Amino acid sequence: MEYKTINPTDAYKLLNCGGLVLVCTLSPENRYNLAPIAWNCPLDYEPVSRVLFVIDPGHQTFKNLESSREFTLALPTYHQKELVEKTGSVSGAKLDKYKAFEIPFHDAVDVDARIPDGVAASLDCRLVEILRIGSVAIIAGEVLSARAIPNAWELRLHHAGDDLYYRPGNRV
Ligand SMILES: Cc1cc2nc3c(=O)[nH]c(=O)nc-3n(C[C@H](O)[C@H](O)[C@H](O)COP(=O)(O)O)c2cc1C
Repeated sequence: MEYKTINPTDAYKLLNCGGLVLVCTLSPENRYNLAPIAWNCPLDYEPVSRVLFVIDPGHQTFKNLESSREFTLALPTYHQKELVEKTGSVSGAKLDKYKAFEIPFHDAVDVDARIPDGVAASLDCRLVEILRIGSVAIIAGEVLSARAIPNAWELRLHHAGDDLYYRPGNRV
């Protein structure tokens, strides 16, 4: 095998975490919000599933998490790349993204959040811990309830950095 040297600042792109999530939250001013997060993964499964994701504390989503201490992870399909790019391009600090982008939604079940229609799955979570490391934060959450379409993993949208999006390949 011939290996190419990768710049350490780009090395994270090799560690692809998997599918994107849209973190859906509610602000202290009662504005519903959502933001795509690529850096997410499972944390535990017993006695219930726990999840984690990495977030910039400057994001409105972080402020919403601090105040509401709950969130829903909505898993976009590869048909929803445009939704991901739009909701990841602006802050919900002053803007209602659902209104601005005319996003059809349904209500989460166990969390006060709005889930965009058409996602592959959704996980309602309570916030367990916020861990700040340098300029970023890790959010740990516990799943209260979850819903998915059959074979949700096949439809998920993945992001590897920059404008590189992909969909899951064949099962091996
Ligand atoms: C594909 C994609 C993946 C992203 N992944 C992350 C991530 O893992 N962590 C993060 O803090 N921001 C991530 N972002 C950036 C936020 O989604 C973006 O800054 C968003 O506008 C924040 O919105 P908010 O201020 O309403 O929370 C990502 C954006 C895109 C488009």
